[in-house]
Amino acid sequence: MNPVKVGIAGLGTVGSGTVNILRRNADEIARRVGRPIEIAHIGARRDNDSCDVTGVRISRDVMEVARDPDIDILVELIGGTTTARELVLTAISNGKHVVTANKALIAEHGNEIFAAAHAKGVDVAFEAAVAGGVPILKALGEGLAANRIKWIAGIINGTGNFILTEMRDKGRSFSDVLAEAQALGYAEADPTFDVEGIDAAHKLTILASIAFGIPLQFSKVYTEGISGLTSEDITAAEQFGYRIKHLGIAKDTGNGIELRVHPTLIPQSVLLASVNGVMNAVMVDGDAVGPTLFYGAGAGAGPTGSAVVADIIEMGRALTIEHDQRVPYLGFHSDVLSEEPVLPMDQVVCPFYMRLHVQDRTGVLADITRILSQHSISIEAMFQKDVDDDQPVPIMLMTHAVREQDMNKALAEIAALDAVLDDIVRIRVELLKA
Ligand code: HSE
Repeated sequence: MNPVKVGIAGLGTVGSGTVNILRRNADEIARRVGRPIEIAHIGARRDNDSCDVTGVRISRDVMEVARDPDIDILVELIGGTTTARELVLTAISNGKHVVTANKALIAEHGNEIFAAAHAKGVDVAFEAAVAGGVPILKALGEGLAANRIKWIAGIINGTGNFILTEMRDKGRSFSDVLAEAQALGYAEADPTFDVEGIDAAHKLTILASIAFGIPLQFSKVYTEGISGLTSEDITAAEQFGYRIKHLGIAKDTGNGIELRVHPTLIPQSVLLASVNGVMNAVMVDGDAVGPTLFYGAGAGAGPTGSAVVADIIEMGRALTIEHDQRVPYLGFHSDVLSEEPVLPMDQVVCPFYMRLHVQDRTGVLADITRILSQHSISIEAMFQKDVDDDQPVPIMLMTHAVREQDMNKALAEIAALDAVLDDIVRIRVELLKA
């Protein structure tokens, strides 16, 4: 049979990984698709010695790939959102299907891209955009399609997880571990995307759309990074029986959707607490299936290339059936998306961990607990460290579930007490119970 012809734009880590998998497993892939996959054209500003591109047409201008009349599928692996958006829209307008690993592009411009693809009758697939080699989008859109998804909680940035793991296990400093993650090629070109939660927010935007059938709404994700976390809080969390993870959380509350990325205390007993290093894991709770956990490598040439090639294979198969009969890549057809609102952060309800430094004098603790009780905030656990006379006393406490806006009011009143020194640290808690 005629081969499916693929054009690849971008020959960095993921591009070369994709070429290597397509070549190494060509026979196996052809048997799965029913047709061979041919790399017909590569667009890249420079060569990459880590893959063999013998016999492939090479262009330095990626737009030439999007316009190539020979190509069935454009694979966008250049990253960024400006040229990548233009490239993908050009490919779509030329009637090509698109595979991309670009989470920022889908999260920020996906609604426009899917509308253009729908109008043109082509598909856009993006499994590699979330959690690298973990097939979480196909799991949500297909394997769990029978369920009403209640919530998703995921470790979806490997760099951030690597940093938190090394800080906890080896007492290393934040900047030292970040430098290593950059050297190992895990971190984004701009590592603030990793440590300030933007990369995770892109991925959460995509997960939530597929889980709940809502439009992509990146601008509504509450995003807080890990750069302010201290080893003192990491240790205190362990003493309470919790572990701090940087989670992306999407929850259908019935009144609206919570979309949030922030450091989170989770019980040490849940599997997600044992996901260490650069590994990713996504927990999904469906009304029929209950809690499920998907785990694997979230970055790198092999894992991300694996997801890109899976999309190429799926498209290769789909090219033999009618477009209208295919499963939409967003899991829901675009004309039936839900208008359920994304909740403002002050409406989110969860327990909190707090750490504050106070002057060691009579009545301070009573003032703090009085303010908490005036806002109906109940304390779950508390400890106070013994320090030398005249030193500020660290107090750590955990609350029961409270609405964020009530917590914010109580924190403002506590911070205004004369005896409270420094800024108060507060970290949200998720019990991850089904
Ligand atoms: N910088 C990302 C991470 C790469 O560390 O998870 C994969 O998206």
